[in-house]
Amino acid sequence: MKNIIFIAPPAAGKGTQSNMLKEKFDYAHISTGDMLREAINSGSKLGMDVKNIIDKGELVSDDIIIKLVEEKLASLNGKPFILDGFPRTLNQAKSLDNIIDDNYVAIYLDLSEEEAVKRITGRLTCSCGKSYNVNIDSLKPKAEGICDDCGNALIKRDDDNVDAFKVRFKTFLDNTNGLLDYYEEKNKLVKINVNRDVLEIFNDISGVIND
Ligand code: C5P
Ligand code: MG
Repeated sequence: MKNIIFIAPPAAGKGTQSNMLKEKFDYAHISTGDMLREAINSGSKLGMDVKNIIDKGELVSDDIIIKLVEEKLASLNGKPFILDGFPRTLNQAKSLDNIIDDNYVAIYLDLSEEEAVKRITGRLTCSCGKSYNVNIDSLKPKAEGICDDCGNALIKRDDDNVDAFKVRFKTFLDNTNGLLDYYEEKNKLVKINVNRDVLEIFNDISGVIND
């Protein structure tokens, strides 16, 4: 099974697909966004340093993020992993290649800006990791504001608003061509259109990681 690197704009479904992959296959899910949000919630020094940056939709420095990912990867003892949200820059991608072997695929989840903003403004998440969307009928929770699976109250992320979205999407566009070219040249890139049903996307990804 190949390790997975997701490259995607905000709300393309990295987290949703990671959760499904984790359940069906034995992957470790490394979400740098979740790690940073946990640091903020715990009130750690790292959390205090990055809160402002994340709320504005900007990127945390390469040094901080690379160290975080390197430590996490070192703790996996060889378990296959999904990188959800890292690398975000070409510099991060190059550093990553110095840390891991080449048994991976870079999966680009392709989504239009129009669809991304619709998803961002309707997204609600649960602390269990499940994600909902009040702008998409098939993704609404059964009871308003409550997780179907665990009954916890759903949360709206501080950076899931139109202003932060604009910065996040622009940051994504500014960095993406460099990243895509890098993985294309290495013959590692697979592009998947994610303006489709989650199960269809999941099947495509499953086909790519096993071959
Ligand atoms: O991946 P996710 O969308 O959850 O990331 C949320 C935010 O965390 C990003 O908008 C960015 O501010 C920060 N982040 C970062 N560098 C990464 C991953 C996330 O700065 N590699
Ligand atoms: Mg996520």
